[in-house]
Amino acid sequence: MNAPFVSPIQDLLDDLHARLIDLRAGEVATYIPELGKADPEWFGLAVATLDGTLYEAGDSRVPFTIQSVSKPFVYALALQDLGLPDVLKQVGVEPTGDAFNAVRLEPSTGRPYNPMVNSGAIVTSTLVGGDTFEERRTRILSGLSAFAGRELAVDRKVMESEAATGDRNRALAYLMHGAGTLTCDVEESLELYFEQCAALVTTRDLAVMTATLAGGGVNPLTGETVVSVEAAAKALTVMATCGTYDYAGEWLVRAGLPAKSGVSGGLIAALPSQLGLGFFSPRLDSRGNSVRGVTACEELSERFGLHLMRPAERSGPVFHRTLRGDTAHSSRVRAHDERTALTRLGGAIRVYVLRGDLAFSSSEAIVRTISEDTDSVRWVVLDLKRAGRVAPVAEALLEGLAAKLKERGITTVVVDTEKGVTVPSAVISETRDAALEWCEDALLESAGASRMTVPLAEQDLLRSLDPFLVTALEAYLEPREYAPGERLMEDVAALCFIISGGLARQIMIGNPPRPFRETSMGPGTAVGRLALIDDAEHTHRIVAECPTSCLVLTTQSLARLERDSPRLADSLRWSIANAIATRLRRTDAENHALIH
Ligand code: DON
Repeated sequence: MNAPFVSPIQDLLDDLHARLIDLRAGEVATYIPELGKADPEWFGLAVATLDGTLYEAGDSRVPFTIQSVSKPFVYALALQDLGLPDVLKQVGVEPTGDAFNAVRLEPSTGRPYNPMVNSGAIVTSTLVGGDTFEERRTRILSGLSAFAGRELAVDRKVMESEAATGDRNRALAYLMHGAGTLTCDVEESLELYFEQCAALVTTRDLAVMTATLAGGGVNPLTGETVVSVEAAAKALTVMATCGTYDYAGEWLVRAGLPAKSGVSGGLIAALPSQLGLGFFSPRLDSRGNSVRGVTACEELSERFGLHLMRPAERSGPVFHRTLRGDTAHSSRVRAHDERTALTRLGGAIRVYVLRGDLAFSSSEAIVRTISEDTDSVRWVVLDLKRAGRVAPVAEALLEGLAAKLKERGITTVVVDTEKGVTVPSAVISETRDAALEWCEDALLESAGASRMTVPLAEQDLLRSLDPFLVTALEAYLEPREYAPGERLMEDVAALCFIISGGLARQIMIGNPPRPFRETSMGPGTAVGRLALIDDAEHTHRIVAECPTSCLVLTTQSLARLERDSPRLADSLRWSIANAIATRLRRTDAENHALIH
């Protein structure tokens, strides 16, 4: 029984957590006395993908109050309920470069600058749908819960602590009420705001909530549409420009992700259409951002190549096709016993044909899908021929996957001709067919099913012939030895039985022409000029790939055989016709399996 597969993405998160735990700069916020009780050592990280996969490290399940991280979510709810034009009448969208609690309103309009600063968030809380204070309260809490995909509670102690000490917010609210921007009752508006800040979440919740925004308003766990695509997109935009206050410019340059922080130590960042990230650690820098959170997020963005302004990953299904070695075979022509063994055991070979650009999200899906199905697998072929760009993070994750598969005795073969990807733990192959053949050879060898030498009587073509006819035929055959690289069939051979070694069929391609290995043949199979059937010229080159022993029927011997023993010649022709029919049927079935 294997230990559970730990994703390389999980390893990266654990590694980041272990390294940054020593970062002890910054101070826990104490201006809301209850917040000062937080354990400064708490440190959680979480990544949520849009298909609902979660990676977590450290204290990702420790509850804490969401604080200002609530702001983009409540803003999205207000946009959903009231629409952008009406929301804009009361809250702007311009970055301030000020601190979160700055006492400053737009001089010409009296509006708060944006919904990410306290003044803007207080007004935003009053813009969510509901005719009464109670209806708005319920709407905010149930809306935040829908973003998280579970019912969130409120930490009353923190809420009261903030209400008791929130003079600055109170001052802001009265100022805006005086300016006519805040039209609801001041104390009720503050209560809405304090309560939203005191909603209890975990780092894991933050990742899911953010993935909901990144996924156009659809919660990746519950599938619920929480807000519209437009509302989610606009909330993310304001996060990008205003989410980190007076650090917004540098943040966007460095991490390149819309983000929002809160004074309890929470931090979220989103990669639209791909991911939600959540971080939590209570020690804050001078701007009120979690020190470990900011460092972890910037590092993750760098390691995973998440910067928004990088060329985007082309999305779409990443698996073009998935094949198993028991139903799909390489083009190598194999003797009956080997074919039977492959049909029986080939499920140990899996071929994944990948497509699209490979960056974080697609590689995450690849690693996850392949690692979920490793039980009876021994060989994994990753065909990158149809893939587009392969970002460094994809190389790193594929290497992580290959290394982990190797630990479980699974060999990875990467098919890559032009991209030059670096996956040191994998075998690199030029074509999918060659990769599959390589895996088949390895499987047959490990199962003790490879046929190194196949005597004449057991040759595929002659299996159904009477033994006395086989003995009679032997008199017409000449043994020949071929050295690696030596060409066959240029002489007068009509039919050539491979006793040991192996041959390749090549065609000439390109200008100047160079040989391309189309397929190969192993012991127990035969290659002929079809002269026995229709006299056609050979269009291919047949070359020995290793020292090869054959028994050859030359055209002269064939003529002699026709004269001496027409019955034997006839039987031989029937066998060839049968072999061709069988091969056609098999190819047909495989093509069918590929199409459907
Ligand atoms: O308004 C306040 O003081 C808090 N309830 C929220 C502030 C906050 O989280 C700002 N974040 N950076």
